[in-house]
Amino acid sequence: MTMILAIETSCDETACAVVKDGKEILSNIVSSQINVHTMYGGVVPEVASRIHVENISAVIEEAVRESGVRMEDIDAIAYTQGPGLIGSLHVGVQAAKTLALLYDKPLLPVNHMCGHIYANSFVSELKFPLMALVVSGGHSELVWMEDDWHFEVIGTTFDDAIGEAYDKVARVLGLGYPGGPIIDKMAKDGNPHYKLPVPKTAGRYDFSFSGLKSAVLQLIEREKKQGNVIVTEDVAYAFQETAPYSMVSKTIDAVKTYKPKMIVLAGGVAANSRLREMMREEMAQIPETELVIPPMYCCTDNAAMIGAAGYIAWKHQEFGTFRDSADPGLTMPGEID
Ligand code: KG4
Ligand code: ZN
Repeated sequence: MTMILAIETSCDETACAVVKDGKEILSNIVSSQINVHTMYGGVVPEVASRIHVENISAVIEEAVRESGVRMEDIDAIAYTQGPGLIGSLHVGVQAAKTLALLYDKPLLPVNHMCGHIYANSFVSELKFPLMALVVSGGHSELVWMEDDWHFEVIGTTFDDAIGEAYDKVARVLGLGYPGGPIIDKMAKDGNPHYKLPVPKTAGRYDFSFSGLKSAVLQLIEREKKQGNVIVTEDVAYAFQETAPYSMVSKTIDAVKTYKPKMIVLAGGVAANSRLREMMREEMAQIPETELVIPPMYCCTDNAAMIGAAGYIAWKHQEFGTFRDSADPGLTMPGEID
């Protein structure tokens, strides 16, 4: 039996969890700062790190209390080393080191994106080779995993991440932050009135979202010039049909070529209803590959997922040291910088 205490502070959630054997969540506390950042229309890094400092002790205390596990019985402390905001990451790293020093526990530095992928192990036994579509506020990646804990990024975005595009379009439409869930909901009341171009990229499995974002801006400008009222729901509908489709079509192409045993969705944008629906529809035609769609609680940032990935790091004896530091640009193991 392995008990891992995990800490996640890479962006705007202060989170701590206790996870048993990488699969069973004994506690999963997430303190969101969304209310504060909403006032500014996005995450303000300096504000985020200050709130992490204020909340981290209480969040850890609550996670330990709720788990019913004594600190003495924790086997290791996992923490998000990167990628993320440097000031935010530092708070989690220092908290993890403090606990490790105080209770004489080994440290497990974890890549945030690996955490998103391994969140799926709470709902299904992962089967390899596996393909992961990792979509969040900072990343849009297709990751090929020939085996457990082997990562090869076969597709990425060289401009905006999908979540970032959702957030920016929502800001332009005056809808608030974070934009993804708002557009997702609003699109359900929209109609197929506007058309947006499906993004094109040079790389077969790469993504691009800045052109799509510009197309939304141009659409709004054009409508304004023509004196038309912009139907926000219809813009949301057009974006919600186009952005997920561009990812799903590439993902299906990759699935047909690589033939994985399993395809998993991961990251905050995996909560998107249209992305989930399109993946279900398309994957129904490819029954030899199992589709895993994570439940909402493990799509957006949380510490349980860091505990799940930390458990695999523990099995591989990939311990950190007190010299390790936060790494805002951390790449996945096996990925070239
Ligand atoms: O994984 P996450 O919590 O943080 C990062 O690692 O970035 O992802 C946050 C992102 C935000 O951009 C948010 O707008 C987006 O996930 N998001 C969604 C939905 N829920 C969250 N995007 C589209 N549809 C959603 N339902
Ligand atoms: Zn994330």
